[in-house]
Amino acid sequence: MKPDPIDRETLERLFEAANWAPSHGLTEPWRFIVFQGNAKKQLAEAICSTMADEGQDTLPGDDPRRAKIALKTDTAPVVVAIVCQPSTKPNIVEMEEIESTAMAVQNLHLACRALDLAGFWSSGKKAFHPKMASFLELEAPARCLGFFYIGYPANEWPIGQRRPYQEKVIWREHRS
Ligand SMILES: Cc1cc2nc3c(=O)[nH]c(=O)nc-3n(C[C@H](O)[C@H](O)[C@H](O)COP(=O)(O)O)c2cc1C
Repeated sequence: MKPDPIDRETLERLFEAANWAPSHGLTEPWRFIVFQGNAKKQLAEAICSTMADEGQDTLPGDDPRRAKIALKTDTAPVVVAIVCQPSTKPNIVEMEEIESTAMAVQNLHLACRALDLAGFWSSGKKAFHPKMASFLELEAPARCLGFFYIGYPANEWPIGQRRPYQEKVIWREHRS
């Protein structure tokens, strides 16, 4: 991604699109924490602390994983923590709330593409680590589902790759 900043109005458009995701009972469980500028450095440090060995607070200064994390968080001008704040209503299942939050992210991603912005969802252990929940000031049952990196692409759009949909669809209309 290019380091070019993304203006606030454009970011607001992205979140407006995200906000139109569906949810069971209109619970609207998606939440976003937007990291820009120096706040991204704090996020990078929080990620480093999730990778530390037991007994360590954070990764040692010379650990090569630090450079990788710094590169990712420095390159994207905006990094968004994706949070699901599930409803506690008895008729709502947590799975539905996670699905709904993922749909909000898909909306966000499609809106990025429409505005010539690149987006990338990353998660893994760092996102689900209790240290990350604490850094993001999340209280259970809220949980982080990952990070969405946004920026103007520095290169040509990559060619997407997917196996054929035919492998994933079962048709049952002609069964007797
Ligand atoms: C929930 C979720 C988590 C993901 N986590 C990672 C990740 O931690 N690291 C990674 O390289 N790709 C991750 N991906 C995959 C990328 O976001 C992306 O989909 C993949 O690189 C293919 O690129 P494309 O979707 O633009 O074709 C994740 C995707 C999803 C939906």
